[in-house]
Amino acid sequence: MTDTPENPYRRHLLKAAGVFTIMGAGSAALPGCSRQHSGRDRPLAFSEIPHLLDASHHLPEGYHADVLLRWGDPIHTDTGTFDPATLTAAGQRQRFGYNNDFIAFMPLAGDAGPGEADRHRRSTNSERGLLCVNHEYTLPHLMFPGYDDEYSATRGVSAKHVAIEQAACGHTVVEIEKTARGWQPLLDSPYNRRITLDTEMDIVGPAAGDPRLQTAADPSGTRVSGTVGNCAGGKTPWGTVLIAEEGFGGAFQGDPDAIADPVEARNHHAFGIVPDNRNWGDHDRRFDIAVEPREPNRFGWMVEFDPYDPESRPRKLTTLGRFEHEGFTLVSKPGRRVVAYGGDDDEGQFVYRFVSAETYHPGAHATNRNLLTAGTLYAGQFNPDGSGHWLPLVFGDGPLTPENGFRNQADVLVDARRAAALLGATPMDRPEDVETNPVNDCTYVMLTKNKRRAKDETEPANPRPRNAAGHVLEIVPPGMQGDRDHTSDSFRWHTFLLGGNPNAEDPDERGAYGQQVTGAISPHGWFANPDNVAFDRAGNMWIATDGCEGFGFHDGLWAMATEGEMRAAPRHFFGCPQGAEVCGPEFTPDGTTLFIAVQHPADGGHSTFSNPLHRWPDNDPALPPRPAVLAIHRKDGRTVGS
Ligand code: FEO
Ligand code: CA
Ligand code: CA
Ligand code: CA
Repeated sequence: MTDTPENPYRRHLLKAAGVFTIMGAGSAALPGCSRQHSGRDRPLAFSEIPHLLDASHHLPEGYHADVLLRWGDPIHTDTGTFDPATLTAAGQRQRFGYNNDFIAFMPLAGDAGPGEADRHRRSTNSERGLLCVNHEYTLPHLMFPGYDDEYSATRGVSAKHVAIEQAACGHTVVEIEKTARGWQPLLDSPYNRRITLDTEMDIVGPAAGDPRLQTAADPSGTRVSGTVGNCAGGKTPWGTVLIAEEGFGGAFQGDPDAIADPVEARNHHAFGIVPDNRNWGDHDRRFDIAVEPREPNRFGWMVEFDPYDPESRPRKLTTLGRFEHEGFTLVSKPGRRVVAYGGDDDEGQFVYRFVSAETYHPGAHATNRNLLTAGTLYAGQFNPDGSGHWLPLVFGDGPLTPENGFRNQADVLVDARRAAALLGATPMDRPEDVETNPVNDCTYVMLTKNKRRAKDETEPANPRPRNAAGHVLEIVPPGMQGDRDHTSDSFRWHTFLLGGNPNAEDPDERGAYGQQVTGAISPHGWFANPDNVAFDRAGNMWIATDGCEGFGFHDGLWAMATEGEMRAAPRHFFGCPQGAEVCGPEFTPDGTTLFIAVQHPADGGHSTFSNPLHRWPDNDPALPPRPAVLAIHRKDGRTVGS
């Protein structure tokens, strides 16, 4: 591997040479973000479930899950019952999409109407709200009959299938209400809407209008049709929802080397655009880079929209850079600049931070709503000695100059990966959710795995070669608990845990958790491949996984304290049906309901529409397996987890 921006490990390691072995895997879970107790400590007290692998979902005793929304469920009163055999794209636009991922619960004030958006934005109601859900990608072999021939999504693809797939991606807003019969969608709600690849959006921020974003359909470079690859996201205290565009490269087809412009060829290679992919471009020409070589530059952004305004037009925020966004989560303190943290979910990619130019003032919706359109994006450098720096992605600074191919700030943002690598950011083991614990004010980075990291490419922040199980880092900004300065350009970091079996023979595969020497972790308490994360009101961390089947058991949820004796000692709370991963854990404000997204159930092992591994959650021979959102609550109505 040579020292190039495209192969960034070596560049970073050369910079780090000489101070390499100070912190190893043994530092997992020590020392803490804070030794202070929050005063809100509430030990986790559910009965753990075992590691399993079957066709069901599993919860601790005393808990119940409502199946709230499934792929194809109507979101309007006149939509009708779901029938996969007669589904059309127009019908799909009226129905819950496929492969649910990120979930935001946005409260609705109990006594306010649709015209009172500002009252809703201030609400902390936990019994009525808008469920805002991403739909990451489609699996045609599980959605449509006729793909059974060797699991091939490209075989027999038709324009009709492509149109349905495009309508099944994106986002759904549905009003939901807690009733005596559990959580229910309200199909007559004026808020209910789908966002798909047909939804008109604006492009805002420094890259808007740049020639690299201009196409035949949009010579202005400021308007784009739709969003795709919508993985995780975030929400803002001014009541908007952030949708990430992650694996957008898979929507495009074509040979990057056949593009006349070498800058775009390199760019398209970096996002995995290849001649075959999903063959959408055969039927929708804008997804063929030979026809529209700049269309991919209009994807790979964060999208913001206002669910409290059903007519609102989503905006792509070019300030937050272009890469395979997992999501961006906010730290918003009154009178301070807003900070947002995000990850680029690919092997060897970077952790990012954004700091707004203007300050946040609660209730000032008209100005707050533009906070993410101006500010500075930074990439993270995790030094071997436990210090860290945020490196600004600013045109003209350091190597971000015309000599290195950057004409302006638009180039820096469109090619954020290349800019971050040139600055010396640390290549990480697939950064997924990066989220701040509201109780201890430290930030946690889920690093899901990186099987491509070689032994001589390990370093303290990514300490394992062929990292199959992933790990979690803790970022500690300067300052005291409750008043840490997330705008500071320096921080400390610790290894919070290393995923995997704590008893694995190979030290490179061995998991490391808090308290493991005292036996505080049960045989079911360990996990692998942290992906999404949420914090409950007591500051406990709830990690959703994607990849545990590679270790012989289902993906699911594990909960743990971040402070005190039980810091980083996970307990197993939820297990998925086989083939699925868990996404989007999200609590109601009062912590009595936990929403989760079960994504791609029954996928894998040549499972198909006609002959699936199982048919969760309906278990109806007339229906395929369906991705679904569950609403989990305690039968006694008390706080989940406690
Ligand atoms: Fe879509 Fe990063 O998982
Ligand atoms: Ca994810
Ligand atoms: Ca999260
Ligand atoms: Ca995932």
